[in-house]
Parts: sequence; structure tokens; C-alpha cells
Amino acid sequence: MTLRVRLADTAGFCFGVKRAVDMVYQEAETSNNVYTFGPIIHNESVVNDLESKGVNVINDVLEIKDNDVGTIIIRAHGVPKKTLDAMESCKVKVVDATCPFVRKIYNIVTSQGNEGRDIIIIGSDTHPEVEGIKGWCNTKVYVVESEEEANNLELADDKPLCIVSQTTFNHIKFKNIVDIITSKAKDVMVVNTICNATKERQEEAYKLAEESDVMLVIGGKNSSNSQKLYNICKDKCKNTFFIQNAKDFDFSILDNYNSVGITAGASTPNNIIKEVFDLCQKKVLNNY
Ligand code: F3S
Repeated sequence: MTLRVRLADTAGFCFGVKRAVDMVYQEAETSNNVYTFGPIIHNESVVNDLESKGVNVINDVLEIKDNDVGTIIIRAHGVPKKTLDAMESCKVKVVDATCPFVRKIYNIVTSQGNEGRDIIIIGSDTHPEVEGIKGWCNTKVYVVESEEEANNLELADDKPLCIVSQTTFNHIKFKNIVDIITSKAKDVMVVNTICNATKERQEEAYKLAEESDVMLVIGGKNSSNSQKLYNICKDKCKNTFFIQNAKDFDFSILDNYNSVGITAGASTPNNIIKEVFDLCQKKVLNNY
């Protein structure tokens, strides 16, 4: 039986994460006492590598003074406005690696708030990106994550609304939730802020899972976009495995199948994807 191994073109770092990680490595080379505000990505091996280069993590602005911070780097998820202001008042160098697509959402919610619209963010209330977006809203803000929450949502009478989305949200679920909200409000402006990188990665994963006997989704255990990829793939391919790296998978499983598809979340580094891909390829060679 010849195994067919296919790696998704969209597996791994998206534009915003690559930009943020590159910015941290660049600061590590040129500055002292560099810290990131929260782990730069949900990936232990990258965080450990950065630590070996002297880049550490703080999670609270109050830690800036205690740690003699020289440079603080905001990750791609962004931060609430008050956090950015607090950092800037600490007189440290602030490197803002907020993804430009997330920054665009800040501009939308701020300007639409100025126009008198309340904001609905479709996403997970506890996700740092949503925390950040909430922190740029200047009117009432609601966070809705599910169809059920949308059905139960109690809106202020006749208040115009603006709906945006967490960049990594599932586009089908987004549409369903928007349909529910627009059916119960009069004046709703909908801005689909789901990032194309996520949509393309999800669509490619869906197709690959449909065509594969086994599907491997590589991502950090705390990475919500990797978890979403896993759910999409599991729906189409019952032999879908969520792994953090090659060590998490028993490659002998592949002996019983014809095809394996591989995808990875936005925070999975290339070297980890390559290792998994190479070990699958090795199976192909061994089985000849
Ligand atoms: Fe930015 Fe899209 Fe990545 S919003 S961080 S390029 S998933």
C-alpha cells in the first residue's frame, strides 16, 4: 500500500504572526532587557528559543517596573487601549507587533462607536484578541460566541449596531450568528473581519480532510485557531489527530491507510511542520 502524503499550502505561520515573531527576533539582537507582553505565540518551542536569546515574558503592566524592562513587545493579538497607554507611560520602548488586520478592527469599533453604534464582537470573550478589541470600544459592547448566545441576546431598543468578528472565527458560524442578530435589530452594520489567512487555512483543511484517510493538525495546546482547525477536520475525517509536534503521534498508524493530510495552526513554526511531514514521507519510503 503506497501512502500519499499531502501538506496544506496554508499550514503554519500567517502573515501577522510571522511579522510579530520576526520583530521579536530582531529586537533580541539589537536591544537589552526585551520582554513580550504574554507569550508571542502559543508555541512552547518558539518561546523557549526566545528565552535562550534573553527574551522573557511578562503578563501585566505592573511587572514592567519590577523587571527593569527595556523593551516591551505587544504580540499580534494586540492589547486594549488602556494597556497600551499604561505601557507608554512607563517610559520603556514599546514595539507594537499588533497584526495590521487586528488594528483595522480597532479603527472600525472606535469610529463606529463615535457614530453612535453599539458594538457586537463575534468571538470568544476570553480570547486575548477579543479582550483587546473590547478595549478600543467607546460604546456598549457585546461579545457573542454561539448561535444560542445570539438568540438570547438582549439588545437596547433601536440602538444602531456594528458587528465585527474575531479574526480567527469560523466563517460559517459567523454568518449564522449574523443572521440571528440582524433578524432582531433594525440598523445593523456588518463588517466581516475574519482574516483571509484563517478562512483559506480552514477551507484548505476541510478539503484535505475530506480527501484523506488520516488527518494531522499540528498546533499548540492553547491555540484556539488550531483547535478550530481540528474540529473542522474531525467533521470530515474521523481519524483526525491533534498533535503539538512529531513526538505526539504514533506514525505506525499510517501503515493501515492510503493517505494522510497535514495542516497546522497559525502559530506552528515551520521546523515542527517539516519534521512531521518528513516522518510521514519516511513511512512512504519504508513501505516501498
Ligand atoms: Fe493577522 Fe490574520 Fe494572522 S489577523 S495574526 S494575519 S490570522
